[in-house]
Formats: sequence, C-alpha cells, structure tokens
Amino acid sequence: MKPLSAVMPALTLTLIFGLSVLPTAAIADTVSLPMDTLPNRITLPNVSLVNSALANRGAYVARSADCMACHREDYSGGVPIDTPIGNIYSTNITPSTRYGIGNYTEADSKKALRKGRAPNHQIYPAMPYPSYHGLTDDDVSALFAYFQTVPIVDTPP
Ligand code: HEC
Repeated sequence: MKPLSAVMPALTLTLIFGLSVLPTAAIADTVSLPMDTLPNRITLPNVSLVNSALANRGAYVARSADCMACHREDYSGGVPIDTPIGNIYSTNITPSTRYGIGNYTEADSKKALRKGRAPNHQIYPAMPYPSYHGLTDDDVSALFAYFQTVPIVDTPP
C-alpha cells in the first residue's frame, strides 16, 4: 500500500483527466441518442463514451501507469526511447485499426501488457511490460474499455 501522499498527485490528475475525456458535446449527443445509433466501437460490453465506470477506471489506470509519458497525451505514439541498441519508438495505441490497436481483443491486451506479446510480434522491453506484469485482470479490462473511448488517430506514429 502506497502512502496517500504518493497516490494523491495521480488521483488529482485522474480527476482532471477523467473530466477531460468527457467533452460536453459528447455528453449531449449520447444522452439524446438511443444506444443502437452509437458508433460500433463504443457499443462493446461495458463501454460507453459517457459514465462508464469501467472506462473511467481505465483512464485512472492509464494515468497512474503513465502510458502517455511514452505514447503521448493523445496516444498517437512516435516518442523515441533511447536504448543501448538505438532509439525504439513508441507505437500508436489509439483504436485505429490501421495504425493503432483497434484490432486488439481484451485477451490481446492482457498478453501485450503483461507478457510483451502483441498479436503478431514480440514487443521490445522499451515498453515496460515487466513493470506491468502485476496488472490485475480488472485493471487490464478497465484499460481495454478505456482505450476504446480514446479518439482515433489514423496516422502512423
Ligand atoms: C517507458 C515508455 C512506455 C510506457 C510508460 C508505456 N509504453 Fe507502451 N510501448 C512503448 C514502446 C517503446 C513500444 C513499442 C515497442 C516495440 O516496438 O516493440 C510500446 C508498445 C506498446 C503496445 C504494443 C502496440 C503494438 O504495436 O501492437 C501496447 C499495446 C502498449 N505499448 C500499450 C501501453 C499501455 C496501455 C501503457 C500504459 C499502461 C504503456 N504502453 C506504457 C513504450 C511505453
């Protein structure tokens, strides 16, 4: 258990961030639209753009685990990580099916985050999956839900 003082900055950021992922327009849209008119990518189980406890928890986990430090605030990637074998660039982890992780299943996310295995390649440890090995199933489910709600960036990192 971390002392509260260590957790507080993350909590504060999450509160700010949690609010920032809910633009007013999106709230208005979603409230006035029945579920079946929403785009496919946010009709997955437990994921809605607004007020999904799971996705909001995912935003908290992402902020606490500092994914954006390497993948950028918009998760579009392209940040060079200096390693003894040269720079390794972070990837686009938005739900883009072409450039991001839009084709990931929840099981794929678990393997990638905890074991460093992407669906068709081994991930370099510049992505700190050894540190994420202890993420619980619930944490990864929450991250998975949250990353469905992140705006797509359809460009290569
Ligand atoms: C210390 C920097 C760093 C942090 C922090 C980090 N990543 Fe990464 N991540 C990387 C790098 C670098 C790669 C690319 C590795 C490669 O090309 O093999 C990567 C790759 C990935 C991939 C594989 C994408 C693909 O190509 O299939 C996923 C998924 C991912 N990161 C998710 C996350 C999530 C979620 C978090 C937060 C929980 C996170 N990362 C935190 C650096 C980081």
